[in-house]
Amino acid sequence: MKMVWIMRKRWKLWGIFLIIGIGLVVWAVNRQTTRERVVYDDEQKGLQNQIIIYFSHVVAENTPKGLAAQKFAELVEQKTNGRVKVEVFANGSLYSDGEELDALMRGDVQMIAPSFSKVTELIPEWQVLDLPFLFHDDDDIRRVFTGKVGDELLGMLEEKGIKGLALWSNGFKQMMGTTRPLIEPDDFRGLRFRIMPSEVIDKQFRLLGGEPVAVSFDHIYRALERHEFDGQENTISNIYSKGFYKFQPYITISNHGYLGYAVMMNQSFWDRLPKDIQQKITEAMAEATQWNLRQSKAQNERELQQLKQQKSVHLYLLSEMERKRWEQKLAPLYEEFARQFGSKLLNEIKEFHE
Ligand code: LMR
Repeated sequence: MKMVWIMRKRWKLWGIFLIIGIGLVVWAVNRQTTRERVVYDDEQKGLQNQIIIYFSHVVAENTPKGLAAQKFAELVEQKTNGRVKVEVFANGSLYSDGEELDALMRGDVQMIAPSFSKVTELIPEWQVLDLPFLFHDDDDIRRVFTGKVGDELLGMLEEKGIKGLALWSNGFKQMMGTTRPLIEPDDFRGLRFRIMPSEVIDKQFRLLGGEPVAVSFDHIYRALERHEFDGQENTISNIYSKGFYKFQPYITISNHGYLGYAVMMNQSFWDRLPKDIQQKITEAMAEATQWNLRQSKAQNERELQQLKQQKSVHLYLLSEMERKRWEQKLAPLYEEFARQFGSKLLNEIKEFHE
């Protein structure tokens, strides 16, 4: 009797396991289908098998990256006659900068364009692009981004299973202070700076005697409201579009570093695209990149003029002599980079302006 009771109980348990198992399989299949639906939206009338690309970024729409993303979306739609639709999500509304790279690698989003600094955790050699005073002017940027070095950098992404599409530009970084201007290296001593996550940038501020703290872009405004930082470095377009100048009104035009972006796509998504679509996307990206390189320069110049109109903003243009003193103070960063990663990439970049 007891035996029969035990057998029944076992069958009951197996039954429960079976139902849970079936439930899990149904859930997983459903989840996968929902994900595919994000990419292939065939419910739209007249657009059978339309391909949807989600493009997530963290800055405002009206910035060099935001506008180039929209330009790229328009070009893709035109070139594919609407077969491919790029949906752009600005202001970190889909993923913050701390989340977007993982989301891309998982395939939860198809495209992102993080700043170079944010790629350095994955590919430390990319720190080369964060070295201060590496680029002299916008011609340097164009030659490096669209030439052999650019291809080499994008190739490193491919080794990590990411399709690197292009390098985009924002502009030169300027230095900002909350309560006083930052002109001489000694002015940085003892101050707390918001930085992007990058070892080179961290060391840059430590060499100047400051205390750098990596904070994601979407947290800066709130941190500034709470007076958590005495300074930061950023481009005019980010300073202007996000209103950082309201809290850090001392802006030194130092052009000491460069903020650019790696435009990337999930590799397996790319591999699944038909060859003719890949070709159209490549063409659209090449056009959008040229457009971005022109626009970013013009936009930073225009918004610098806007900042000059703000009564509360104190702009200071670093002189050649002052700039030389910053360069001397920060020279050890180059030696350290070469020790860690060799000089090949560094020399290839420098060749462009020698
Ligand atoms: C920053 O974190 O300051 C920038 O990387 C934001 C951006 O994408 O321009």
